[in-house]
Amino acid sequence: MCGIVGYVGKRNSQEILIEGLKKLEYRGYDSAGVAVYTNEGLQIKKSKGRLAVLESKLGEAPLAGHIGIGHTRWATHGKPSDVNSHPHTDNSSKFSVVHNGIIENYIALKEELIEQGHVFVSETDTEVISHLIASVYEGDIVKAVQKAVTRMRGAFALGVLTEYEPEKLVAVRLSSPLIIGVGEGENFIGSDIPAILEYTRNVYILNDGEMALLTKDGVTLMTLEGNFISREIFRVDWDIVTAEKAGFDHFMLKEIYDQPKAYRDTMGARIDESGSKVVMPEVRMTEQQIRNIRNVHIIACGTAYHAGLVGKSVIEKLARIPVETDVASEYRYRSPIITPETLVIVVSQSGETADTLAALREAKKNGARVVAVTNVVGSSVAREADDVIVTWAGPEIAVASTKAYTSQLIAFYLFGLYLGQTLGTIEPSYVSEVLAEMQQLPEKVEQILSQTGAIKEIAERIVAHKNLFFIGRGLDYAVALEGSLKLKEISYIHSEAYAAGELKHGTLALIEDDIPVIALATQEDLFEKTVSNIKEVKARGAQVIGLNIEGETELAKVADEVFSIPHTHQLLAPALSVIPLQLLSYYASLALGHDVDKPRNLAKSVTVE
Ligand code: F6R
Repeated sequence: MCGIVGYVGKRNSQEILIEGLKKLEYRGYDSAGVAVYTNEGLQIKKSKGRLAVLESKLGEAPLAGHIGIGHTRWATHGKPSDVNSHPHTDNSSKFSVVHNGIIENYIALKEELIEQGHVFVSETDTEVISHLIASVYEGDIVKAVQKAVTRMRGAFALGVLTEYEPEKLVAVRLSSPLIIGVGEGENFIGSDIPAILEYTRNVYILNDGEMALLTKDGVTLMTLEGNFISREIFRVDWDIVTAEKAGFDHFMLKEIYDQPKAYRDTMGARIDESGSKVVMPEVRMTEQQIRNIRNVHIIACGTAYHAGLVGKSVIEKLARIPVETDVASEYRYRSPIITPETLVIVVSQSGETADTLAALREAKKNGARVVAVTNVVGSSVAREADDVIVTWAGPEIAVASTKAYTSQLIAFYLFGLYLGQTLGTIEPSYVSEVLAEMQQLPEKVEQILSQTGAIKEIAERIVAHKNLFFIGRGLDYAVALEGSLKLKEISYIHSEAYAAGELKHGTLALIEDDIPVIALATQEDLFEKTVSNIKEVKARGAQVIGLNIEGETELAKVADEVFSIPHTHQLLAPALSVIPLQLLSYYASLALGHDVDKPRNLAKSVTVE
């Protein structure tokens, strides 16, 4: 969980590395560093803290050179500090390494190297790599890296430089993402495409077990065993501005406002022209294979897990197949009953989340078919799944997920309808009715986004509180969980989400005078029961902020204030009701002066278990 960037060419590498790292700060931002080959040999500058700290250090004493590697870190082994920052080097300072991932056997390797006389200065696993490469180097950096990698266990992506061959940059990928950017007279490496998109749109996506040798004149792709690989260039056709803030104060706010487009793009060609059928050619299961499905497991982490909870209700209702939704880090260790008749759906915005990937592998090992719902084409999850439903939300930069979550909901609605129409568990007229409602969602989101004043005002009020509750029943409960996570994540205010009917079994003891309770009541079937639960908290002094469907008039009689979302099909309500909750957490974070896009202790892509 770190960001890597590398450059070889004619330009000043320092600038390219810093610009690239700025695009990768979402991967980690507790420290940063660069290594550049200069007239005085390989020089490293690194520092604890945000990239801006390194940038100002480099401003005072720039590193001039045409080849370099850079890194932005999210600490795993060893606290954030100058010395633990990457790049790392060996005792001769002739080798330099940046690394994303974990070397599982680093302690054994370190002990072995110490016995050989190597002296270590940091607490990191990465430093072992630079010493290991130095210890096996015999005049050919590619061979040395290959040899070193055979000794290393774990998941990693690497960028390597040596002063002995100052025109070469070596890149390695084993279970952590890495791409190669191909320019004219210059080449790049990056953990993600935005890092290099300013300079080139021509990209090679490295697969696991592959490496590359980059010089300014070319890129050679090969396996870790040294077999050459020929691969077509992938042309990136999305624009750099889609990865930038586009005039918004924060990425999160931009991404909240991107949602109508993300909904439209994710539905896109998946609704046939007549609007009566879902078409999903990317799901390559035959009708018989779909008929053979006995149960579904949905696996994900965090916000994606919350989308999976909505997915459970949707699939059970539309396809009448039993569904379990699991947190990925728990799934593997609870000996889940997976059979070849189990369909496993993994949900991951980044497609690189280590826990989700491990669960996917467990499912495949047990013979299940795996469908991935992901936002990143070419991600690890996408490459390892049998079928891939891409959520076309575009790059999500803010750590707090918004448009990726709602696009996952859209993907679940489409997939649920697709299963239902294939199995005949829903009438064609029902499919048409839901699809017609779905196509109106983008406009309805726009409607919510055009009246943010009331939410902003509520947000500014709730920040005075230390605790808060979100309650709801059925799908409203799933959305309450997401609203609560969002608020905790970026405002650092403690909140809990409860199934409204469960409060009286313990939690009601925590309700005291003036405590804010956000009550979701969008589900018609459950409305009266939810109102009874709202009365229970009101009776204990809570101030209730209700969320209902416009036109409904009863909630205002029990809640202190009510925010209404446009009318939609009951099943689709989460795709609208979560929007005010996203805005609530955004404005709360803003009011408290927090770093909205980069909340403390968190990183965008969690590639460690
Ligand atoms: C919260 C958030 C996280 C992610 C989780 C899974 O806003 O973004 O909870 O949802 O880390 O990440 P992905 O979807 O990339 O697997």
